[in-house]
Amino acid sequence: MKNDKPSRINTVDFTNLPFGKIFTDHMVITRYSDKKWSDSEVVPYGPLELMPSISALHYGQTVFEGMKAFLSKDGSSTIYRPDAHSKRINKSLARLDMPELPEAVFMDSLQKLINTDAEWLKKAGQLYLRPFIFATDPYLGVKSSEQYIYALLACPVGPYYTKPLNLKVETTYSRSASGGVGFAKAAGNYAGSLYPTRLAQEAGFDQLIWTDSSTHSYIEESGTMNIMSIIDGTLVTPELSETILAGITRDSVLTLAREMGIKVEERKLKVAEIVDGLKSGKVTEVFGAGTAATIIRFASITEGENKFTLPDLGEKSIAQKIYDELNMIKKGEKADTHGWLKVIV
Ligand code: COI
Repeated sequence: MKNDKPSRINTVDFTNLPFGKIFTDHMVITRYSDKKWSDSEVVPYGPLELMPSISALHYGQTVFEGMKAFLSKDGSSTIYRPDAHSKRINKSLARLDMPELPEAVFMDSLQKLINTDAEWLKKAGQLYLRPFIFATDPYLGVKSSEQYIYALLACPVGPYYTKPLNLKVETTYSRSASGGVGFAKAAGNYAGSLYPTRLAQEAGFDQLIWTDSSTHSYIEESGTMNIMSIIDGTLVTPELSETILAGITRDSVLTLAREMGIKVEERKLKVAEIVDGLKSGKVTEVFGAGTAATIIRFASITEGENKFTLPDLGEKSIAQKIYDELNMIKKGEKADTHGWLKVIV
């Protein structure tokens, strides 16, 4: 089952970890055929042998999750909200006409990989986990596959973003549309975002603020994260819809904010409300929330030709307070009153 080769762990600089480029020694693979999932196998992280005709490569039947494991203050290994990720991957799977992944199969894979590569978690303090499922029928007809692979990878990671972000409001291209797959964590959603994101990056921006596809006047989400704003002291975020990914960090942020006595509104959020609020000073913070991104401050927002900068509020920042609270829970430094952490035994 496991790697006979020596571990790569000693070749890694854990003080300077890029996001998503270094993988632990192992991965988990589970196969689906004849309408059932096989037992999962822990194998060395490495190439997969696949036919070039598999339908995932041609028609994009692929969904994934992004989640994290943490080393707790007491030395235990934990996974952050795996039940929520299990539910979400199944929503994505259903929309892409892919078979359900039972929660027990999902949990078993997490348990096995974290236990096998426990040393990596000890050294890194956290691992980014990437469960994904893709279609493997070697068939070029356009139809749902009958065979799939579920795989789980783990990466010791540093922050996805290392500095506050400069955002551009996107009004030409769309990430998702009514009736589409925007709410699902479907690989194709990310593929479609790459070209507009590259154009924005070439113009000096870090990320896009996606807007609704029909009027481009309502904020939906950003690339890699949900969007939150502080308007007159209230945390306002776009309400969930079929075109927005239901972020698990988003949910944690809203829960903690409410408990901290911050008023929270989940509702439609017009770009104009943010722009006017930035002009008048009513909007004091805008930030992103995501598993990889964690909570990241927006330094500026550009709409058309107009760039609005946001001050660094330091300790007064509501985003910073929520970030600190969430971080302490993840590291086991503060009681996990919501049962968000699943201890790996
Ligand atoms: C995550 O935050 O886990 C994501 O999936 C975003 C990105 C890295 C694709």
